[in-house]
Amino acid sequence: MVKMPAEVRETLEKQKPVPIATASKSGVPNVIFVGLLKIIDDETLMIADNFFNKTAANLMDNPKISILCYSSDTKKSFQIKGNVTLCKEGENFDQMRKWVHGVNEKLPAKGCVMVKITEIYNAMWGPAAGKQIT
Ligand SMILES: Cc1cc2nc3c(=O)[nH]c(=O)nc-3n(C[C@H](O)[C@H](O)[C@H](O)COP(=O)(O)O)c2cc1C
Repeated sequence: MVKMPAEVRETLEKQKPVPIATASKSGVPNVIFVGLLKIIDDETLMIADNFFNKTAANLMDNPKISILCYSSDTKKSFQIKGNVTLCKEGENFDQMRKWVHGVNEKLPAKGCVMVKITEIYNAMWGPAAGKQIT
C-alpha cells in the first residue's frame, strides 16, 4: 500500500463530486460520480454505496477502482488506484452508516467500500502527465 502525499490529499478533499471508475470482469469500463467519499487516513478511503448498480456488480467481480481529482486553483490533478473491500456489516459498515445518515438520514447506506491505495499518478497535462508519483 502507498501513502497519499499532502498535495494529493488536498486535491482529493476538494474534489466534489468525485469520478470513480470500475471495470467488469470482461473489461467493460464504468465511471460514476460519488459525493460521499471520505479520507480515513493517507492509505485508506471510504465510499458510501447508496445507489451503486453496475459499480457494485463490477466491484464484486473485480475489486479494483480508479479515482480522479483536479484542482483549478493549484492546477494539480491525480489519478488514484486502489484495491477494494466491500462491507455489509462490521465496524467500517457501522461507521459508514453513521456518517451517511448524519448527512441525510433518508439515504439507503447499503454498502461500504473501503479502498486501500496502491498507486498514484500525475494526471495533469504537460511533460509529467501519466508519471507515477507513488
Ligand atoms: C453529483 C452526484 C453524486 C453522487 N454520489 C453518490 C454517492 O456518494 N454514492 C452513491 O452510491 N451514488 C452516488 N451517485 C450516483 C452514482 O453516480 C450512479 O448514478 C450510481 O452508482 C448508478 O450507476 P452504476 O450503475 O454505474 O453504478 C451520485 C451521482 C451524482 C450525479
